[in-house]
Amino acid sequence: MSDKISLSLRVNGASHALSVAPERTLLEVLREELRHTGTKRGCDQGSCGACMVLVDGEPVFSCLSLAVTLRDREITTIEAVEAGNELHPIQRALVQHGAVQCGFCIPGIVITAKALLDRNPHPTVDEIRHALGSNTCRCSGYARIVEAIASLTGERP
Ligand code: FES
Ligand code: FES
Repeated sequence: MSDKISLSLRVNGASHALSVAPERTLLEVLREELRHTGTKRGCDQGSCGACMVLVDGEPVFSCLSLAVTLRDREITTIEAVEAGNELHPIQRALVQHGAVQCGFCIPGIVITAKALLDRNPHPTVDEIRHALGSNTCRCSGYARIVEAIASLTGERP
């Protein structure tokens, strides 16, 4: 077993002092140490996007990111996307468009969409589709997901 490394991780605005083996991924630390289980483990190899989080505002596969490389970076998980008990507009739009068919892929999709809209509040439908290329919905509900996000931008798919 590897020697653990002490580090501070900033997650959702709070600093956490941790002792982490160098090979531990951010996904493992989020779910197993910090109990932020909204971030899902799907493929564990950077293909499905279920584990997506924001690091300094950019979408990142947490299953491919080593926790020890993220000292003092600003990590945002799905738990911080709601404001109190209020759904984020992206979450509301997904529900309203019937795009939420499971709880597994949706956290990653919300994170990817949030990164896109924070960077570009008026993406085209093609830009929405392109951004979502890193997220897999196994029930193939992409049309409704794209419709939902486009509804926030005034675009029509
Ligand atoms: S669990 Fe990370 S991309 Fe699938
Ligand atoms: S809505 Fe989650 S896999 Fe399709």
